[in-house]
Amino acid sequence: MSLIISMFLLLRLSLLLLFAALAVSQTGPSLWTIAPFNPPAYSLALRSPYLNTWNAQGNGPAPLTNVWPNLWPASRPILGWYASVVVDGQGYRIMGAANIPNVTEANQTAVEFTPTRTSLLFSAGPMQINATFLNPIEPTDLVRQSLPFSYFYLSATSTDGNAHTLRMYSDISGEFMAGDTSQIAQWTPVDSGQYVVLSMQLQTQQAFTENDNHAQDATEYYTFKKIAGTTTSWGITQDVVNRGLASNLSKPLSNTADPTPRPVQDNWPTLGIMIDWPGSITETPEPAVWAIGLVRNPSIQYRLTDGTFQKRSPYFLTAFSDVQSAAQFFLDDFSNALASANAFDAKLQAAGSALSSDYADLLTLSVGQVLSSLDITIANGTDVSGPIAGMFSQSPDLQSSVNTVDVLYAAFPMFLYLNPELGGYLLAPLLEYQDSAAYTQTYAARNIGTAYPNATADHITDAHDFQVEETANMLIMVLAYSQASGNGTFISNHYTLLSDWAEFLGNTTLTPTNQKSADVAVTGDLSNNNQTNTALKGIIGIAAMAKMAEVAGVIGDQKRFNDTATSYIQQWASNAVAADNSHIDFFYGDTNSNGLMYNVFADKLLQLDLVPESVYQVLTVYYNNIAAQNRFGLPLDNQDTSVATSHSMMFAASTVTNPTTQSFMVTQLHNYVSANLNNTAFTAAYNPTTGFGVDVSVAGVNSPAVGSMFSLLALNASVKSINVPGRSTVPGSAAANPSPSHTGAIAGGVVAGVVGVVAIGVGIFFWIRRRRNARLHHENDYGTYSDPKDMARSYSGGKPMGLAPGTAFEPFRYSSTNTGSGYTPSSDLYSPGLESGITQTHVRSTSEVQDLAGLTSVAAQAGYVAAPVPERDSGYFRTRRRGESGSDLGPSASQVGGASEVMIAKQSLVNEELRSEVDNLRRDLERIREEQGRAVLDEAPPSYSDPV
Ligand SMILES: *[C@@H]1O[C@H](CO)[C@@H](O)[C@H](O)[C@H]1NC(C)=O
Ligand SMILES: *[C@@H]1O[C@H](CO)[C@@H](O)[C@H](O)[C@H]1NC(C)=O
Ligand SMILES: *[C@@H]1O[C@H](CO)[C@@H](O)[C@H](O)[C@H]1NC(C)=O
Ligand SMILES: *[C@@H]1O[C@H](CO)[C@@H](O)[C@H](O)[C@H]1NC(C)=O
Ligand SMILES: *[C@@H]1O[C@H](CO)[C@@H](O)[C@H](O)[C@H]1NC(C)=O
Repeated sequence: MSLIISMFLLLRLSLLLLFAALAVSQTGPSLWTIAPFNPPAYSLALRSPYLNTWNAQGNGPAPLTNVWPNLWPASRPILGWYASVVVDGQGYRIMGAANIPNVTEANQTAVEFTPTRTSLLFSAGPMQINATFLNPIEPTDLVRQSLPFSYFYLSATSTDGNAHTLRMYSDISGEFMAGDTSQIAQWTPVDSGQYVVLSMQLQTQQAFTENDNHAQDATEYYTFKKIAGTTTSWGITQDVVNRGLASNLSKPLSNTADPTPRPVQDNWPTLGIMIDWPGSITETPEPAVWAIGLVRNPSIQYRLTDGTFQKRSPYFLTAFSDVQSAAQFFLDDFSNALASANAFDAKLQAAGSALSSDYADLLTLSVGQVLSSLDITIANGTDVSGPIAGMFSQSPDLQSSVNTVDVLYAAFPMFLYLNPELGGYLLAPLLEYQDSAAYTQTYAARNIGTAYPNATADHITDAHDFQVEETANMLIMVLAYSQASGNGTFISNHYTLLSDWAEFLGNTTLTPTNQKSADVAVTGDLSNNNQTNTALKGIIGIAAMAKMAEVAGVIGDQKRFNDTATSYIQQWASNAVAADNSHIDFFYGDTNSNGLMYNVFADKLLQLDLVPESVYQVLTVYYNNIAAQNRFGLPLDNQDTSVATSHSMMFAASTVTNPTTQSFMVTQLHNYVSANLNNTAFTAAYNPTTGFGVDVSVAGVNSPAVGSMFSLLALNASVKSINVPGRSTVPGSAAANPSPSHTGAIAGGVVAGVVGVVAIGVGIFFWIRRRRNARLHHENDYGTYSDPKDMARSYSGGKPMGLAPGTAFEPFRYSSTNTGSGYTPSSDLYSPGLESGITQTHVRSTSEVQDLAGLTSVAAQAGYVAAPVPERDSGYFRTRRRGESGSDLGPSASQVGGASEVMIAKQSLVNEELRSEVDNLRRDLERIREEQGRAVLDEAPPSYSDPV
C-alpha cells in the first residue's frame, strides 16, 4: 500500500515539475518595466461606476499601443479610446488597436501606477512620450471628488538631442455611453476660445438604465484646453477619417462635426482633438491635457420615505451652472489637481509603507476602485437633505445593487480613513428609509436598491436570511462613523431604530439559525446555522449599541445592552473556542470546523474591548499555523477551501497579535494581486490555492469591498468623542426625562411643556416599537435571552478560556528561509501540489509525512525549500471535501471498522486529491495555451485514472 502511495507522490512530483515549467510561462510583461508590480489591471479613466476604464494586465499582457481599453471588469467590453503622435512626419500609435495606414506602434517601455495615476512611457522614434491618466482623489472636497472627468495628458522629450516636429492626437468613440452600439448617437461640438468641449450621447436615452454595464442616460465628453502658440484642431467624424488626418503632418482636423446622427457603430463617429506644436521642439514645454468625462444628470433615483421619487443630481452641480463650465474648471484646475494627487499619493504611500511595501501596494491598487464605485449626489434645487452617495456593487444575482450593506461594511475602513463623512453619505439613505413607516422588518435591509442607479428601495422590505449579518453591520458602521467623525447625528436621529436592531440581535445572534453570512455569496457550502463568526458579529453589534446608548445618555439601554453583550461573548467563547485552543469552531459544536473569525475586527475597530484577549491569541496561533498552506491566503473556512476573500483576509490580518503573521497574510494578498494570474480589476473573492479570482458572477470583480485593504490604517485612526446633537431628545436619555430636582420652580411651566411634548414623543416611540415587535416577532423580555435553550443542546459547554498549557504560542514558521516579507525566489513558483505536500507542515498523517520527507531532498534539488519537519500533528485544519465527514484525515477507525478499511478510505481520498490536482493542472495548461494563442508545450495535457 505504501508503495502505491509513494508512486502517487512520485507522480505528483513529476506533475509538479511539469507545472513548474508552466509556471515560468505565467509571466508579466517582458517588454516594459512596470512599477510597483504587475497588477491584474491598471486604471485609465476611473471616476464613477460608468466611467470605469481599465487595461487588463495579468499574464502575458499586451502593451497599450496594441489593445483597446475596457470598461470594468477590464476584460470587456471594448471602449474606443485612441491616441497617436506624429514625430517628424512619422505616426506612432500609443493607445488603441486601430490599424491606420502609415502609423506604427510606439514601443511601450515603462508603466508606473500610483493611487491616482497610471503613467506610461513610449519611445516614438527619436522622442519619448509620457502618457498619464490622472484620476483625482479628493475625499474631503466633494465638488472636486464628484467632478465626472479624468485627465489624460501627454508630454514628449527628444531622446537624440535634436528638435523634432510633433503633433499629438486622441479620440473617443461612442462606446463610453452606449451599451448597444447599434443605437443612434448624436453629438455637439463647442469650440469657445480657449476650450474645446465635444460631447456625444444616445439620441434616445433611457433614464437610470444599464445596458452591458453602460448607463443609457450618459453624455460622454472629450475636452481640451488650448495652449498659446500651438494649433488645436478637432473633428467629430468617422474614426478612420480623424485618425487618418492625424497620422501625418499635412493637414489638421476638420474643425467640423458630421451633420447627421447615426448609430455608434456606423462608421464609428469619434470625438477627436489634436494639437500641433509649433516648429521643432526638443520637449513639450507643458503637457497637452485632455479631459474625458461621463455625465449623468440625474444620476440617482431615490425613493423618499413618503414614497415619492427624487431625482438626484451629481454633487459638482452645486458649484457649476452647467457641464461646460465644470469641464472648463476641470481643465483650468489641472496643475492643482496634479499637485494634490502627488500629495495624496505620497501620504498614502507613507502610511502604507510604515507597515510594509506590500501593504502600500494593496492600498495603491484599491483606493481608486472603491471611490469610483460612488456617485455623490444632492437633491435637485435647494440642497435640503445634504449629500447622499450611491455605491455601485454587483450582487450575487448579477444585478448591480445600491449601497449593499455587506459590501459597504467591507469597504468602510477606507472611508473611515479617508473621510468618514463619505461613509456617512452612504449610510444616510439606508438609515432614513428604514427608520420610516414604509419599512416593516425588524432587522436591517441588504441594500437601498437592487438595480443601480435606482436607490428606490424596491425590494427593501422583502424577508431575507442575512438578518444578523446586515443588522450588526449597520450598528457597527454607525458607531464607527460616529467615532471617526465625532458626529452623533445618526445616533440621535435614529436612536430607536438602532436600539430596535440591537434588540433583534439580542434575540437571534447567540445561536444564529437560518442566518446566512455574506460569505454565502461566494461559497454556497456554508450551513446557515450555528455559524460562530456570524454570532460574533451580532454580539459586537449589541456592544456597539451599548456604546451608542452611552453617548446618547440612555443609561438604562447602555447597561442592558452591555450586560447582554458581555454575557453573550462569554458564552460564545466557552462554546466556540476549541478545547485545545487550537482554533475557533466555525460551527458551534463541530470541532472539526474551523475558519477565519474575521468579524472580531469590529471589536478592535470600535475599541470595545469586548472580546477576551485570549480569543485573539487563539486566532493568531491558528492563522499562523494554517497560513502557509496556500500561497495566496487563508480560506474562509475548511468546508470549502477554494474560497478566500480579500476582506476576510485583511480583517483577520488586522486582528492578529503577531506582526510576522500579519505581514505574511498581507503578503499573501499581495501574491494574489501580483501573480500574473488574473486580468480583471481587483476581485474580492478568489481561490487561495490557485490564485484565480472566483467566477465573475459572484466574485465581486471590481468590488468596492476591497476598501477593506485600509483596515490596518483604520485601526490606527483616533476615536473622537461623539457629539450627539439634541441628546436630550433622544428617547430614553437621562436628559429627556429630567428628574424633578432638575426642574426649578421658575422655569417650571416652560419645562413642563417641553417635557410634555417629549414625553408624548417617547410614548409614541415606545408604542410603535412595541407594536412592531409584537407584530413581527415574539415580544421578548430582554432578561430571558441571556441563556437561550438552543445553546445547551449542541455544545460541550464551559471550557476554560485562555491558552491551555500545551498550546505554546508558536513563532511564525513558514519556511526556514522566510524573511517575513514574502516568498523566497525559489518558492515563488506557483506550485499548489508542492505547497500542500511539502511546505505545508501539519496536514499529513505520519506515514505520508515520512514519504514526503524522502521527497524533500529531490524537491530541494529542483530548487525548493523544504519546510521544517512538523512538530505536532494538528489535523484540525485539514481540508474537508464535500461529502467527507468526521475526522479531517478521513474516517477514523472507530467510524469505519477495521484498519484496512481505513487505509482504503484514505487511499480514495488520495486518489480524489490527485484527480482534482490533475484536473487543475489540465485546466491551467489549457488556459495558458488559450491565452497565448499557441501551444506552449509539446506534452499532452496530463490526465488521470485510478490505478486500481
Ligand atoms: C503612407 O506613406 C507613403 C510614403 O510616405 C505615402 O506615399 C502614402 O500616401 C501614405 N499613405 C497614407 C494613407 O497616408
Ligand atoms: C522599437 O524597438 C525596436 C527594437 O529596439 C526598434 O527597432 C524600433 O525602431 C522601435 N520602434 C519605435 C517606434 O521606436
Ligand atoms: C510621466 O510623468 C509624470 C508626471 O506627470 C511622472 O510622475 C511619471 O513618473 C512619468 N512617467 C514615467 C513612466 O516616467
Ligand atoms: C430604474 O427605474 C426606472 C423606472 O423609474 C426603470 O425604467 C429602469 O429600468 C430601472 N433601472 C434598472 C437598472 O433597473
Ligand atoms: C431640477 O428641477 C428643475 C426645476 O424644477 C427641473 O427643470 C429639472 O429638470 C430638475 N432636474 C432634475 C435632475 O431633476
